Amino acid sequence: MGRLDNLVTVVTGAARGIGRAMALRYAAEGATVVAADLNEEGVRAVAEEMHATGAVAEPLRVDVGDPAQLRALMDHVAQRYGRLDVLVNNAGVVRVRPLLEITPEDWDYVNHVNARGLFFALQAGARQMMKQQPLAAGRPRGKIINIASIAGRSGRPMFAAYAASKAAAISITQSAASGLAPHVTVNSICPGVVDTEMWKTIDREWTESDRRPIGAAWQDRIRGIPMQRPQTPDDLTGMAVFLASADSDYITGQSYNVDGGLQMN
Ligand SMILES: NC(=O)c1ccc[n+]([C@@H]2O[C@H](COP(=O)([O-])OP(=O)(O)OC[C@H]3O[C@@H](n4cnc5c(N)ncnc54)[C@H](O)[C@@H]3O)[C@@H](O)[C@H]2O)c1
Repeated sequence: MGRLDNLVTVVTGAARGIGRAMALRYAAEGATVVAADLNEEGVRAVAEEMHATGAVAEPLRVDVGDPAQLRALMDHVAQRYGRLDVLVNNAGVVRVRPLLEITPEDWDYVNHVNARGLFFALQAGARQMMKQQPLAAGRPRGKIINIASIAGRSGRPMFAAYAASKAAAISITQSAASGLAPHVTVNSICPGVVDTEMWKTIDREWTESDRRPIGAAWQDRIRGIPMQRPQTPDDLTGMAVFLASADSDYITGQSYNVDGGLQMN
């Protein structure tokens, strides 16, 4: 028996990295997983991995920047699976640029996905959750998990637009938790320095800007981690399962740092 048996879940940005790890773990815990991503080929491969273990999984090409696609996604899930129990808003993008060089295009690129996309995905998912009955009396009707970042906790001069978008994710988590209580719980996870393609982008753009060798930004950042190793996507899946399960039914509006101790508050 899995901890998420028979739950219908949607994970955005599931083609790789953190979203992929969460989708695979949800499937292993017995959930039905709709894996949504702009990268159709990637998300198909992840669904095949889930199918190979006997899980119910469906890959879908979805741009979280387009509210119409998000509404269509949630309608499809409700029609095909009858309900939506858990939505993980994980899709995200980053751009590294010194503060004085950030352009309006940089700002929009990041916030379009990380803040606007996350908000309208949450809204579309919550509309479906509010229409359905809880799985058992006294339980919430659904759960939303936003992937924010420790970058949303304090300023980041080299990626101010990204940090602002992640502070927005934490704020949206609180607004939605208040607005949807007691029917839908909304919490967020703040990862630290995770070994994914996103950090390869951060390192490349950062070291290019500083004229340092590739890998220097990554090495700087992982040096101070109290747990003394870089974070892997799998380090985040335990919290994602907890927040999707009945064990977290009385928790809402919270943002949890899962970062090896980098940010202690
Ligand atoms: N890697 C880290 O160190 C780190 C730290 C803190 C927070 N995060 C956050 O975790 C989440 C996942 O990060 P990751 O490191 O796995 O990144 P990643 O770049 O490896 O994966 C992101 C996924 O999101 C998808 N995506 C991007 N834009 C999309 C859109 N408009 N619609 C649908 N899908 C889209 C991409 O195709 C990709 O599959 C992001 O929200 C990121 O900001 C990452």
